[in-house]
Amino acid sequence: KQIAVFASGNGSNFAAIHAATINKVIDAEVALLICDNPDAYAIHRAAEFGIECFAFKPKMFASKVDYETEIVARLNQLDPDLIVLAGYMRILGHTMLDAFGGRIINIHPSLLPDFKGKDAIGQAIASKAPRIGVSIHYVDEGMDTGTIIAQSGFAVDGSESRAEIECRVHEIEHQLYPQTIAMLLEKETSV
Ligand code: GRF
Repeated sequence: KQIAVFASGNGSNFAAIHAATINKVIDAEVALLICDNPDAYAIHRAAEFGIECFAFKPKMFASKVDYETEIVARLNQLDPDLIVLAGYMRILGHTMLDAFGGRIINIHPSLLPDFKGKDAIGQAIASKAPRIGVSIHYVDEGMDTGTIIAQSGFAVDGSESRAEIECRVHEIEHQLYPQTIAMLLEKETSV
């Protein structure tokens, strides 16, 4: 089985997913990284892991339809079982959703439906939320709106620093995302 990962920045979730394929928690390989930021650290990680990478600058294309058409062509060469957004900072357009809808998942650092969009952790801290956490959901045309697949969180009381909270959120992400991907791929095999 094959997974394609989309990332825009650091790529720590990409690395955690790749590690889970190597140690067989996930019964698949990460076959392609798609990255919309040619300066992203995730690209260095892909090179280190020996994973093919398509890095592009959206500004070099006339429209979202144009760059997503290019992405879809590259994905079609693989026919991926699952497309995993891991810190990909763009909303998917209809070109991607028409081609792969139902096979695309995202991770978001809040207990959805609360705190969609940018800086979810900052939003949760500012609103004094009693719990902070992570959601994994199917991707639709909205921002962080698709059906929720898995969530995990922890209680906070306002005494924690932002750095502490971020650290815990990332720890959860790096476990929950590989586990959820493994579960979805197994389910697919059993039907
Ligand atoms: C993660 O916190 C994820 O929830 C959010 O973007 C961040 C990506 O981090 N969507 P990384 O690039 O995987 O390190």
